[in-house]
Amino acid sequence: MAPDSQKTFYLETFGCQMNVHDSEKVIGTLMSEGYRQVSTVEEAGLILYNTCSIRDKAEQKVFHRLADYKKLQKQGKKFGVLGCVAQQEGDKIFERAPHVSMVCGSASYRNLSAMLVQIEAGKQRVTGLDDRETDECFETEFTARTNPHRGYITIIEGCDKFCAYCVVPFTRGKERSRTSDSVLSESRQMADLGYSEVQLLGQNVNSYKDPAGKKSFAELLAAVGEIPGIRRVRFTTSHPRDFGRDIVEAIDSLSTLCNHVHLPVQSGSTRVLDAMQRLYTRDQYMERITWMKAARREISITSDIIVGFPGETEDDFQETLSLLDEVEYDSIFGFKYSPRPNTPSLKLEDAIPDEEKARRLTVLQERQREIQKRRNQRHLGQVVEVMVEGKNEARGQWIGRTSQNKTMNFKTPEGIFPSTGSYVSIMATVCLPNSLAGEMVI
Ligand code: SAH
Ligand code: SF4
Ligand code: F3S
Repeated sequence: MAPDSQKTFYLETFGCQMNVHDSEKVIGTLMSEGYRQVSTVEEAGLILYNTCSIRDKAEQKVFHRLADYKKLQKQGKKFGVLGCVAQQEGDKIFERAPHVSMVCGSASYRNLSAMLVQIEAGKQRVTGLDDRETDECFETEFTARTNPHRGYITIIEGCDKFCAYCVVPFTRGKERSRTSDSVLSESRQMADLGYSEVQLLGQNVNSYKDPAGKKSFAELLAAVGEIPGIRRVRFTTSHPRDFGRDIVEAIDSLSTLCNHVHLPVQSGSTRVLDAMQRLYTRDQYMERITWMKAARREISITSDIIVGFPGETEDDFQETLSLLDEVEYDSIFGFKYSPRPNTPSLKLEDAIPDEEKARRLTVLQERQREIQKRRNQRHLGQVVEVMVEGKNEARGQWIGRTSQNKTMNFKTPEGIFPSTGSYVSIMATVCLPNSLAGEMVI
C-alpha cells in the first residue's frame, strides 16, 4: 500500500467538453480507488494532465506544465499525461519529459485502475494507447460531476469522419455509441439526483447508432427530454452531413429540448469544404439551416470556422463571410488553421502566413460581431426562461442561461434571491452582441 500522501491527486483539464467530462469520470474512478483530489500540485502525490491536441498551441500547454513542475519529481511525485496529446504522442512523451510515469489515451481509461496499481507498485512507465480497434466505451459508476444542476453524458465516443485538418479520429479512436438504455438510465439517475439539465456529448452526435438498434439520435433526444425532472436537454457537436430533419422536428415538438444547435460549417466555400473532406457542399449545409429557420420554435444556430486552410484564397474567404451574412449565426468560434500530426492536410503546404490568417480571423470576428449586435436586438422586450448560474457580486446582478444558450445578466426585485439551478423568467431590456441583460418577472 502506498503511503497516504501518495493517494492524493491533482488534475488539470484542457480542451473540449468531452475532455471535461472524461475528467469527471477519471476523478470518480480515482476516488473509488481511495485517492483524494487536491487543488494544488504541491499537495498531490499524483499530478495528472488531461490534454488537448486540436491546435498546436493547445498541445504545447502540457509540455510547458510538465517543464514547470519537473522539479517536484524529487519529492517523489508521479506525473501522468491523459487525453489527446497522450494518445497522439504515446511513448515519445517519456523521451520529452522523462519524469512522466503514465501516458493514457481516452480510449484506454477503462484500464486506469489497473494502471494506477502498477504505478503504486513502483513501475516506472505505464501506457494505455488505443489502436482504433476498441468497441468499448468508458462507462463508469463513478462520475464526479462538478455542477449539481447540469451535467454531461457521453453518448458516442471517437470519430470516423477524418476531416483533413483534424486530429480527433487519431486521438479518440473509432466511433462507438453507448446503448440508448444505458444513456437513459444514466439520465434518470441524474434526474433522481436533482439534475434538471443534461448535455449529450459526442464529437459527432448525429452519427449516434444505438448498438441495440432501439433508438435513432432524434428518438434518444426526445426520450431523454421526456424524463420527469429533466427540463433542458442540449447536445453537441452536430456534423452537417448527418444532421437530419428529424432533429429539428424533435426540437419543435418537445420544449425540454433546447432550441440551440451548434452546427460547425468550417468554411463557406464548397471548394475548401471539399479539400477539408467535410462531405457536404455549401448548398447542402444551407439546406439544413433552412430546416432550422422554418421551425416553429426559434432555434439559435452557432458554428465553428477555420480560416487559412491550405489553398484558401481571398475569394474563398469572401464566401465564408457571405455565408455568415446568409445564416446570421447567434455566435461563432473562429480558428486559424493549425497543421496537426497524422492528419491528411499535413501533406498540403501551410502557405498562408500567420499574419494573413490573423487578418482573416479579425475580419471574420468583426463581421460576426456586427451580425450579433443586430440580431440580438430581436430579444428586446422578450420574456425568456433562464436557469440561474450564480451571482456577479461586484455588479449586483445574477447570471443565467437561456434555452438558446445565451448568457443573461439580470436584476431581481427587492428581497428576491433565486437559487443557483432554479428557473426564472426574465424580460430582456439590453441586448449586447455577446450577452443579454434584463429584469426578473414575477
Ligand atoms: N467534432 C466537432 C468539432 C471538433 S474540434 C466537429 O466536427 O465540428 C472543434 C473545432 O476546432 C472544429 O470544429 C474546428 O473548427 C476546429 N479545429 C479542428 N482542427 C483544427 C485545426 N487543425 N486547426 C484549426 N482549427 C481546428
Ligand atoms: Fe474532427 Fe471532423 Fe471528427 Fe469533428 S467530425 S471531430 S472536425 S474529424
Ligand atoms: Fe482537444 Fe481532444 Fe477535445 S484534441 S478538442 S480534447 S477531442
